[in-house]
Amino acid sequence: MTTHKVGYFIGSLATESINRKLAKALVRLAPQGLHMEEISFRDLPLYSYDYDADFPPAARALKAALAAVDAVLFVTPEYNRSIPGGLKNAIDWASRPYGTNSFTRKPSAVIGTSPGAIGTAVAQQSLRSVLSFCNSPQMNAPEAYIQFKPGLITDDGEVTDPTTEEFLRNYMAEFEAFITRVYTAVPKVR
Ligand code: FNR
Repeated sequence: MTTHKVGYFIGSLATESINRKLAKALVRLAPQGLHMEEISFRDLPLYSYDYDADFPPAARALKAALAAVDAVLFVTPEYNRSIPGGLKNAIDWASRPYGTNSFTRKPSAVIGTSPGAIGTAVAQQSLRSVLSFCNSPQMNAPEAYIQFKPGLITDDGEVTDPTTEEFLRNYMAEFEAFITRVYTAVPKVR
């Protein structure tokens, strides 16, 4: 069976992050053919192109982590109707130095949760625009805007609502199929 390594970003640094709970659920529900590993951006300084000549260790580690995966999953909150600053900073680091953009031809998908009814939809649109510029083939559908109600997902990533659980399981199955389609057309670059 073909397997794909998926690196996932959690857009929140908060200890009680509901998006971390969602990410745990997605790891649990992922098909066997997907190997999931978190890519952390917690230790990155704020990006400047002054660093391009000599990336610091945290940024080198980020680039290495992305080089080692076949696809990227973004599990992100919406902050002020946009991408959380820490996540955008990580994307900016990964896209540089010029000519070494880590997202080029790397399939991606975007998902997120918030207590609000539109479930991070605006942040996701913003992130999709960034990923387009970064030349990442994106899964267009299914979209996933998860409204978080208290207790929906436990700290261990168990989904307490069967309909949501099935939706998320299908989302991950669709992501696996999408990654496979991308690499059927274009060979892996790593
Ligand atoms: C928010 N929140 C929020 N929610 C939303 O649906 N749309 C938004 O634009 C914002 N804006 C926003 C800005 C900032 C700075 C914070 C801290 C929060 C609320 C947000 O959805 C809620 O705090 C979630 O719990 C954030 O997800 P994590 O960090 O718990 O994963």
